[in-house]
Amino acid sequence: MCGIVAYIGDRKAYPILVKGLHRLEYRGYDSAGVAMLNGNLNVYKCKGKVSDLEKFIGDGTTDGTIGIGHTRWATHGVPNDVNAHPHYSESKNLVIIHNGIIENYAAIKAELKKRGHTFLSDTDTEVLIHLIEEIQKNDSLKLGEAVRQALNQVVGAYAIVVMSKSNPDELVAAKKGSPMVIGIGKGEFFIASDATPIVEYTKNVVYLEDEEIAFIPRNGELKIKTIKNRPKTPSVQALELNLEAIEKGGYDHFMLKEIYEQPRSIKDSMRGRLNAEKGIVNLGGIAEYEQKFLNAKRIIFIACGTSWHAGLVGEYLFEDLTRIPVEVEYASEFRYRNPIIYEDDVVIAISQSGETADTLAAIELAKSKGATIVGICNVVGSSIARATHAGSYTHAGPEIGVASTKAFTAQVTVLTLMALRIAQRKGTISSTRFHQLLSELESIPAKIEKVLKLNEQIKTIASKYKDSSNALYLGRGFTFPVALEGALKLKEISYIHAEGYPAAEMKHGPIALIDEEMPVFVIATKGGSYEKVVSNIQEVKARKGKIIAIVSEGDEHVKEMADYTIEIPETDEILVPLVSVVPLQLLSYHVAVMRGCNVDQPRNLAKSVTVE
Ligand code: F6R
Repeated sequence: MCGIVAYIGDRKAYPILVKGLHRLEYRGYDSAGVAMLNGNLNVYKCKGKVSDLEKFIGDGTTDGTIGIGHTRWATHGVPNDVNAHPHYSESKNLVIIHNGIIENYAAIKAELKKRGHTFLSDTDTEVLIHLIEEIQKNDSLKLGEAVRQALNQVVGAYAIVVMSKSNPDELVAAKKGSPMVIGIGKGEFFIASDATPIVEYTKNVVYLEDEEIAFIPRNGELKIKTIKNRPKTPSVQALELNLEAIEKGGYDHFMLKEIYEQPRSIKDSMRGRLNAEKGIVNLGGIAEYEQKFLNAKRIIFIACGTSWHAGLVGEYLFEDLTRIPVEVEYASEFRYRNPIIYEDDVVIAISQSGETADTLAAIELAKSKGATIVGICNVVGSSIARATHAGSYTHAGPEIGVASTKAFTAQVTVLTLMALRIAQRKGTISSTRFHQLLSELESIPAKIEKVLKLNEQIKTIASKYKDSSNALYLGRGFTFPVALEGALKLKEISYIHAEGYPAAEMKHGPIALIDEEMPVFVIATKGGSYEKVVSNIQEVKARKGKIIAIVSEGDEHVKEMADYTIEIPETDEILVPLVSVVPLQLLSYHVAVMRGCNVDQPRNLAKSVTVE
């Protein structure tokens, strides 16, 4: 989603802004722009990528030690040059960049129009900067005070930075619902949507809270107050992020790098939490809330997209191991459906970014009904991580590719640890099974290493099906969520229509789609439903569908039926999602590359969905 970067200090702002915008590209966007102040207020913006913006600027003036930059993901108004940010105020004395949505913009715009304002774009953002300027002029206020008063009139979500031609020594930033972090250097400040544009300049950061406004001077102290005018003391935190983690490290794409990182990222998710030898599972982040789990009559998972698929794996895990009933909810549906929530419910919110607007809103709803909210987030200090009562970070490291890969396996790893811990405390798992699962979980990274060695074979399979128009993914039990995830990975980065189904459900409709053109990816690993899935494979074969089967090593039976088999190391049924999703990630990656798609930034998608 939209990315914000801004700088004030002694250095030239433009290179910092452009580099920062490149860092934020992973969030997904359709246009980009910058504004620099050096006596003149120069705004450059255009539809397309940050590199298009650089070409567009060419030899244009980029002087100035204060500036703001933006990548836009269209909400109000199509992606074009005019709707790109920054936006000028009526007099062109102020400029703004904005991430979020001003919900009551139409009413404000109508009022401003009556008072003679003219608007160049279709955006809600331009309305906000006009409003700020009108308040400032009418009341001869300082910029920050005008911003504060304007924000009291708007409904919606925002992270904004405002710059004024008449005040080259201050930036004003504010946020509600959309993330914003301020990096503090020596006599300089860096502002961004996340820490990636900041990390190489400073490790001292302040995460702005909702409804806070920051007054950021060229030389001097950062001041923060709430939009209700209450002063706040900035809480400076140390950034735990290194530069290598956000660079490609020799891989062609971030997605490929992140797929390959999984043995390491899963180990990081388990580090300090799992000791198979001693039979210990411990999640410090939820320790104080374990009793809530033990008393819970129900667990509700809330999440979106891939994180929702992890939640579905969580349902199988928690029901199997802890015997607590589980519901898995799309956050966007849950929040609008007047759900029944009890005080003894434990709600587990899963989110890579920790910024997903629907998940955040669902958390607030469940919290207001008295439920206990536990978070499973990847981004440390993110809004969701802060909104929950307790939680466990996934520690997968920054995920830059828009398609989620290592975040999914890290989420499933944490869910497995959580379910095992609660099952042990509840006494719903035998000691033998507990110890067996602990050592099996510890061996998962090595098993994924083995799957990654199949890359060339998977690439060959990808080349056979890269021109398909449709694909079906089938799984059963613990591998049903993997089928959903495999289909999502393929459709989002290769634009091939793909659907995931519980294997047995196929004959209730999707079987009508099967002909000799249809590739059917089946997860047919050894476990409870193996024989049943084999029958489903036969049903597909009988209709001339093409079978690509993910099987357990040494399975000769399915090999005889399938067009291609990918053999993965055998593991306990409940851990199969961690291993079996990897070949599907690689397959989607190769298909997308072969089709010439932008793998890391698929069309229309955003990494961090901060609008509902
Ligand atoms: C798919 C994908 C999305 C996200 C979804 C939720 O590859 O990345 O479906 O999983 O937008 O995002 P988070 O996990 O950040 O809440």
